[in-house]
Amino acid sequence: MTKPKLFIARKLRDVVEARAARDYEVILNPEDRLFSREALIATCRAVDAVLPCHSERFDAGVIAELGPRLKIIANHSVGTDHVDLAAAKAAGIVVTNTPDVLSDATAEIAMLCMLGAARRGAEGDAMIRAGKWDFWSPAFMVGRQVTGKRFGVLGMGRVGQVTADRARGFGMEVHYHNRRRLPDHLEKGAVFHDTLEGLLAVSDVLSLHCPSTPQNAGIINAVTLAQLPQRAILVNTARGGLVDEAALVAALTSGQLFAAGLDVFQTEPGGNPALAALPNVFLLPHIGSATEETRDAMGFRALDNLDAFFAGAEPGDRVA
Ligand code: DGY
Repeated sequence: MTKPKLFIARKLRDVVEARAARDYEVILNPEDRLFSREALIATCRAVDAVLPCHSERFDAGVIAELGPRLKIIANHSVGTDHVDLAAAKAAGIVVTNTPDVLSDATAEIAMLCMLGAARRGAEGDAMIRAGKWDFWSPAFMVGRQVTGKRFGVLGMGRVGQVTADRARGFGMEVHYHNRRRLPDHLEKGAVFHDTLEGLLAVSDVLSLHCPSTPQNAGIINAVTLAQLPQRAILVNTARGGLVDEAALVAALTSGQLFAAGLDVFQTEPGGNPALAALPNVFLLPHIGSATEETRDAMGFRALDNLDAFFAGAEPGDRVA
């Protein structure tokens, strides 16, 4: 039987690529280059399936050009904001994602961002590297302790829930806002707020875990930042589009916010130079799920979805 033809748009781990090559006729990207829009379309038109990351944009214009052969977009990401799901559905293209398997890794990065922001990790690191650590006193590099503070989770899905567990481990009190209140066994004593305003008012640390949808674009802005307690900390490991970065720069500069820990930005790769210029921002380059274990699991999960699809079954993680 001929194997389905699969385009794997970015370099994946060897074990994942080996399994893909066993079961599919694969087009790989060994140089890990970012395909132009035109090259992405041309390559996808010649295959039955594509396995992209969030770095490949499948907007309505791209989807309209994909032609009749491509049947499935099996994402190597939990986020699907880079794919126009409605356009894919209309074109009869199945779309899947990779939930669950990256929750632990992303929760770890959220904690790193929180602690890096609260304890001035970027400033301390930069000072030593620049050879400028020439002073110590009890008044030196004093940060904010997270123990006993209120940890606000915006979006209590899988990643939000695991991140809340980690925050509990730091002795924090968990609050959340979500479309739906969770059942007791998932809520684990966290305080539900049925409005965003209610959550913001009590979040000493606010951690973003909601999907990046058009409705959520810029949900953290000058108005909502002003509703946080004075000297709160913002953590974003979800998507840069959730935050109005100009408003964030203003709140960090005025001291209204104590600090921010950010793994995601409106412009990626690259980030925001105005944020990078501030001492009270701890920055990472979108590496929430970047562990060996999780990268393997994401790759295998995307392949599981493809295998199900080509076996004529419903892929477990179908989102369109
Ligand atoms: C995800 O899975 O959405 C991560 O951000 C990596 O793409």
